[in-house]
Amino acid sequence: MMTVLGIETSCDETSAAVVIDGRDVRSNVVLSQVDLHGKYGGVVPEIASRAHLETFDQVIAAALADAGVSLDEIDAVAVSSRPGLVICLVIGVTAAKALAWSIGKPLLAVNHVHAHVTSPAITLADAPWPAVAVVVSGGHTSLYHLRDPARIELMGATTDDACGEAFDKVSSILGLGYPGGPAIEQAATKGNPQAIDFPRAMLKRGSLDFSFSGIKTAVLYHVHGYGKTSGGLEKLSGGKSADIAASFQAAVIDVLVKKSMLAVAQAGGDTLLAGGGVLANSVLRGGLQNACANAGIALHLADRAYCTDNAAMIAAHGYHLLQAGHVSQLNEDAHSAETNELIFAP
Ligand code: KG4
Ligand code: ZN
Repeated sequence: MMTVLGIETSCDETSAAVVIDGRDVRSNVVLSQVDLHGKYGGVVPEIASRAHLETFDQVIAAALADAGVSLDEIDAVAVSSRPGLVICLVIGVTAAKALAWSIGKPLLAVNHVHAHVTSPAITLADAPWPAVAVVVSGGHTSLYHLRDPARIELMGATTDDACGEAFDKVSSILGLGYPGGPAIEQAATKGNPQAIDFPRAMLKRGSLDFSFSGIKTAVLYHVHGYGKTSGGLEKLSGGKSADIAASFQAAVIDVLVKKSMLAVAQAGGDTLLAGGGVLANSVLRGGLQNACANAGIALHLADRAYCTDNAAMIAAHGYHLLQAGHVSQLNEDAHSAETNELIFAP
């Protein structure tokens, strides 16, 4: 039995969790900073970093208390070390290094996006890999060939905005607030998804890459008039706004579902995993469920609790890395990008 403490501070959630054997989630404390950033319409890195610093120790203490375990009972400490906001990541990485050192237990530096990739496995009795995985979040929109948790190969990624980012920007254009995903989903329930034929980027070419900046601009011009960036919102009725939200959501989900199916076909597999904050969206979940059922593909969606950023998925992924023989060193650093480059060269 392996009890892993997970720590997550890559963006605007301070989170800590205790997970046994990558599946048994004993605690998952998530302190969201949405209230701090809402008035700015997006995450302000300095505010996020300060909030992590002020709360990480209480969040870790709460995760241990909720799980009913003491630090001595922790077998390894896993932490998001990349990608993300470096001034945020560094809070969690420093805390994890200190804790791992103090209890003499292994440290596991976890790629946050890889943790989203394997997050659907938390609620499964058996390992679902090999599989194709789609991660749709505020920072990433990527397709992966998941051979196993230590061998995750990129198949396609966004060439510009991430899908969640597009939800957030479209919500801002429509004056619906931050975070945009839930606001768009809510507004879309009252709209017609066929009302406006927004562009479905890069579908025809058979590529596994994504692009979401074009549809964002299409929504902007639809609201204000071609080539204009202001003046239209005041004239927009509630019904029209709902139609835009529903049509935007339908267009991006169409692309996400079709490209996910294409990736499974290209990989020659029969299993799809899906995780990341945008997978909290019921219409996307339903779209993937229908497409996979029609194509005879086994679909494993991340539980909603593990879609938006959380430390349970970090602990679970750390466990899988440990099982594969990986351990990080105490000179591990925080990195903004997914690759391994050092921000501060030694
Ligand atoms: O995975 P996540 O918590 O953070 C990153 O790693 O980026 O994803 C956050 C993103 C935000 O852009 C948010 O608007 C989006 O997930 N999101 C949603 C929904 N809930 C959250 N997007 C669409 N529909 C939702 N219900
Ligand atoms: Zn994330």
